[in-house]
Amino acid sequence: MTVPLLIDTDPGIDDALALLLALASPEVSVEAISTVAGNVPVEVATTNALRILEVARPPHRPRVARGAEAPLTRPLVTASHVHGEDGLGNIQGLLGPDRRPRYPEPQTGIEMLDGADLILEAAYRFRGELVIVALGPLTNLAIALQRDRRRLASAARVVVMGGAVAVPGNVTPGAEFNFFVDPEAAATVFEAGLPLEMVPLDVTRQAVLRRADLEARLTPPLGPVEQFLLDFTAYGFDVAEARGDGGIVLHDPLAIAVALDPSLVGFQALHVEVESEGRVARGLSLADRRPIRVESRLPANCRVALSVDAPRFLTLFLERLCRASA
Ligand code: RIB
Ligand code: CA
Repeated sequence: MTVPLLIDTDPGIDDALALLLALASPEVSVEAISTVAGNVPVEVATTNALRILEVARPPHRPRVARGAEAPLTRPLVTASHVHGEDGLGNIQGLLGPDRRPRYPEPQTGIEMLDGADLILEAAYRFRGELVIVALGPLTNLAIALQRDRRRLASAARVVVMGGAVAVPGNVTPGAEFNFFVDPEAAATVFEAGLPLEMVPLDVTRQAVLRRADLEARLTPPLGPVEQFLLDFTAYGFDVAEARGDGGIVLHDPLAIAVALDPSLVGFQALHVEVESEGRVARGLSLADRRPIRVESRLPANCRVALSVDAPRFLTLFLERLCRASA
């Protein structure tokens, strides 16, 4: 039996890699994609989700719904400097051999309902089995909780890429981007008693895709997915290498991989809360790791991945993505 998956996402270069990984993985069936404002405005994120599906052409096409266009209470902060103005490494301007746009505006449609309702509908339809993977700010999940907490809580697992526990943030010294953009939503999700699995920067930063490793696996003649992979990652590699990261950090693909195979990471059951009041600490994810008896700590509300088998993950990632593009 394949596991039904819903992916909440703000594509985004690493989100696109995560979506392609999920679509190429036989263990799961990507049933739904809800988009959210984050890396790029939600209109751009939605166009990108459709674009990825039009290139990947999965036999079972997921339902797609546009989600929140802004955080619950704050103005949107985007990351186009990391992902390109179009969110996919500025591929919009690329022309094919026929001098026509290689990646034209997608023609496929989206659902009438919004992202939060798509999440709730999937949670009901696949109650007890649905695995939700959140790859962007948690705005849609927070709205879904406000609308029908019980229904969302019927999900089997909620895997969240976000936060930083024992390492610095990537937006401020303390905050990771997804939690920084909508700290109120993240705080709400972590207080809701969901079956949460947190995949923070502590592990994602160990999962780095090097340009040479990808290019070595993509040999001519290139299929459409292979060409797409090279096209939308080129900008990401340029930015990453200029920053000294050595490659694209696979934040979101690791969260998908945890949904596929939790044995890739080592979890600790911890109490985590997200700061939404602070000026300096906005978006900080604070875990109770005090060196006291576990029963004296605050009660755990999630499982946090604090170690990862990065080589095994990267092997899985490249095998799936490059086989998919064959
Ligand atoms: O901090 C990394 C996260 O923020 C990833 O999900 C990336 O896509 C951005 O959304
Ligand atoms: Ca993301």
